Amino acid sequence: MRNARIIGTGSYLPERVVTNQDLEQHVETSDQWIRERTGICERRVIGEDEVCGDLGRIAAQRALEAAGVSGDEIDLIIVATCTPDRIFPSTASSLQRALGVRPGAAAFDIAAACSGFIYALGIAERFVRFGDAQRALVVGAEAMTRILNWDDRGTCVLFGDGGGAVVLEASEEPGVLSTHLHCDGRYEPLLYVPWGPGRGYAALGAESGYIHMRGNEVFKVAVNTLTRIVEETLDAAGVDKGEVDWLVPHQANIRIIQATAKKLDLPMERVVVTVGEHGNTSAASIPIALDTAVRDGRIQRGETLLLEAFGGGFTWGSALVRY
Ligand code: ACO
Repeated sequence: MRNARIIGTGSYLPERVVTNQDLEQHVETSDQWIRERTGICERRVIGEDEVCGDLGRIAAQRALEAAGVSGDEIDLIIVATCTPDRIFPSTASSLQRALGVRPGAAAFDIAAACSGFIYALGIAERFVRFGDAQRALVVGAEAMTRILNWDDRGTCVLFGDGGGAVVLEASEEPGVLSTHLHCDGRYEPLLYVPWGPGRGYAALGAESGYIHMRGNEVFKVAVNTLTRIVEETLDAAGVDKGEVDWLVPHQANIRIIQATAKKLDLPMERVVVTVGEHGNTSAASIPIALDTAVRDGRIQRGETLLLEAFGGGFTWGSALVRY
């Protein structure tokens, strides 16, 4: 049986730190409000000369190094991002060049907002399992602060920038056990960035490039959806919730994460939480959290991980992984 196994992880956060206290100076908010409502203490902001692809590239280099694999051994690159460097070519094609991946290898971006990494993992896993790739690089990278309105306290306190990556390799041993991808486009008005070369584009103002969100409504749907997907994932894989060693959730909000952990009967000690240090980095958040827990020794080989995410679309998804 051919499986796709994670053989290396990597992540990168840009240097500039913006704390809740910094934001207090700019909008009417408080460190206490942000911590209590979200669990976020600080976030990282991309440098003026950096782009999302740089964050993804450094994370990918670290993942390749951890895997002991060089760029020319990669057959497929997928970058999950909703803040690509440009409309085209894809951020993945820049990474192909920068990482020395063989010309001719497949490379593309996918847009599924905060669920992007799970979508990319689900696609890459199938390429590897069906024999179309021996090794795949799956990257989540975001420059979310480039689409933030720093005067909107309802969104500017939530997001940050970063990149994360994993290398998948074909293996006889179990790896990605199952992935589940979903979308419900009816929810677009609750969370979206209007700007794009679409209908009415000529009349779009500068504010159309910012995240528009009805946070409280997003919160309620996210909690309900994520607790449902936990059941779906475990049922599909025939795995009992007691067999899950670690929950590695999308890092949006500590309260959403706690609700999902409760559904799994998992104590918070078995949940990887990094949201406090970098805020919501959208598609980058799961591979950043995964890499953090792998490098600090919490996640061990052979353990069972549940990855889950929810975001704009609405999109949502999960992956059950034997690490
Ligand atoms: N500081 C202080 N007060 C604020 C701030 C802020 N930064 N932002 C909003 N408020 C105020 C509101 O104006 C409102 O004031 P009012 O009662 O006078 O009208 C009050 O706080 C309560 O607002 P709510 O929106 O009801 O606050 P809530 O408890 O829902 O918390 C939050 C808001 C943190 C945005 C929460 O709804 C949330 O996390 N939602 C999920 C959003 C999210 O994570 N989106 C990311 C993409 S989807 C995903 O990744 C899951």
